[in-house]
Amino acid sequence: MIEKVHILDIPKIADPRGNLAVVEKETLPYEIKRVYYLYDVPSDAYRGGHSHKECQEFLVALSGSFEVVLDNGFQKQRITLNKPNKGLLIPTGIWRELENFSSGAVCLVLASHVYLEDDYIRKYDEFLISVNA
Ligand code: TYD
Repeated sequence: MIEKVHILDIPKIADPRGNLAVVEKETLPYEIKRVYYLYDVPSDAYRGGHSHKECQEFLVALSGSFEVVLDNGFQKQRITLNKPNKGLLIPTGIWRELENFSSGAVCLVLASHVYLEDDYIRKYDEFLISVNA
C-alpha cells in the first residue's frame, strides 16, 4: 500500500432488518467539512485526475463498485472499492483517478476541507514537481 493511504473499516451494526454503518468523529483523522458524491457515472468515464495540497478525502462505494488508481509520484496502486463498510483514506500529495464505475455505483466522499479550486493540482507535471518526483 502506498504510504499513508489506508483502507478503513467503517463500524457496522448488523441487523436482520439491514446493516447500518456509521462514520463519526473517531473514524477519520480529520473533521469532515464537506460531503459530496458521484453517481450516474458512465462506465467509460474517468473522474479525479488531480491531487490536493491540503484536503484529505475518504471515499466509500455506497453502492456498486469502482476503481481508484493512486499515485504518489513514485509508486502507483489500483484499489477496487465495492463495500459500503470500507473506505479509502487518501492523504494530501496523492494523484488519484477513478474509473470502471459499475452500473448504479455511488462514490461518497467525506472531505477535510470545503471546496477550494486553489487546493487542486490538476496538471500531472505540476503534481510530480510538488512531490519532488
Ligand atoms: P472535479 O474536481 O473535476 O470532479 P472529479 O475530481 O470528481 O472528477 O469537479 C467537477 C466540477 O465540480 C468542477 O467544476 C468543480 C466542481 N466542484 C464543486 O463545485 N464543489 C465540489 O465540492 C467539488 C468536488 C467539485
